[in-house]
Amino acid sequence: MTKILVSGGCGQIGTDLVPELQKKYGKENIITNDLREPESWDGILEIFDFQDVEKVEEVIKKHNITVIYHLACILSAAGEKIPYKTWEVNMQTLRNVLDLAVKYNLKIFWPSSIAVFGPSTPRDKTPQDTVMEPTTMYGITKRAGEMLCNYYHKKFGVDVRSVRYPGLISYKQEPGGGTTDYAVEIFYDSLKGKPFSCFVGPETTLPMMYMDDAIRASIELMEAPAESIKIRTSYNLTAMSFSAEELEREVRKHIPALQVAYNPDKRQKIADSWPASIDDTKAREEWGWQHKVDLPEMTKIMIDELKRKFDGEN
Ligand code: NAD
Ligand code: SER
Repeated sequence: MTKILVSGGCGQIGTDLVPELQKKYGKENIITNDLREPESWDGILEIFDFQDVEKVEEVIKKHNITVIYHLACILSAAGEKIPYKTWEVNMQTLRNVLDLAVKYNLKIFWPSSIAVFGPSTPRDKTPQDTVMEPTTMYGITKRAGEMLCNYYHKKFGVDVRSVRYPGLISYKQEPGGGTTDYAVEIFYDSLKGKPFSCFVGPETTLPMMYMDDAIRASIELMEAPAESIKIRTSYNLTAMSFSAEELEREVRKHIPALQVAYNPDKRQKIADSWPASIDDTKAREEWGWQHKVDLPEMTKIMIDELKRKFDGEN
């Protein structure tokens, strides 16, 4: 029987992923971990630090875990404020997961990121295999993590699978300290009638994806036959690319009063070091990846769902 542990599961991705896994495998078979207890949660929670390998092992044994979706992490912009802690958390938790995968024959999903790329990488249609010289500590942990996953697969046969998510856009949980967060913040501010201060410039273009596509990609990758998964570092993955100004124009179609000021800060440099668009042919060919949501549809969903969320709060 499939029993899944989701580390860092109360963050932006976990808040969408866990209900999907619950639907698919049964609520009683999904165990969510995080550092802090959320205000409300529908499902089984185990609150502890995933750096604590003994505690992770205890929880694996207690619940007879067979699969881990390892999401616990410190993201790019947050990570630049605490780079050494970012190294420790991101690398130690992954190492714990991979070691325990060997011991308990676990299947692992671990997300990498477009942050593995750097300023020396070709920015347009960035290929699967190319120069990777990340300049953030987060990106360094993601690239090292990819190599570690590949090593554990080759040396110990661990069935570990990974995608390089682009910036993810969702409405259930606000993002947790990333460089792509402006593409979510614009919706919150514009719907609250606040002027939006964008922390990157109008021409900044990054690869992005609506959360439903990201969740579907992750579950489809985990369900694909092992022989289809030829890449055990991490697959390039994308849905759309747009500039901050293109996003502004799309949001303004729904909210004509939108006010935007561009005030680039330290995160501009990080954004400039990442790809503008991604070539994800390998994911499409090898395990059938297809995105569904484009910029106009994503914008409409975000506005409709956030309106509903804010109405519910009042
Ligand atoms: P998030 O910051 O919203 O959530 C991460 C969660 O991990 C938080 O709830 C945090 O409390 C928890 N956490 C941190 N350290 C922990 C620890 N030591 N033990 C237990 N829990 C801990 O991040 P997210 O956006 O949900 O990202 C999840 C994964 O997806 C990360 O690996 C991230 O690098 C990757 N990713 C996310 C994006 C994106 O746009 N959201 C893009 C690329 C990759
Ligand atoms: N969205 C993530 C970040 O900006 C990319 O990994 O950190």
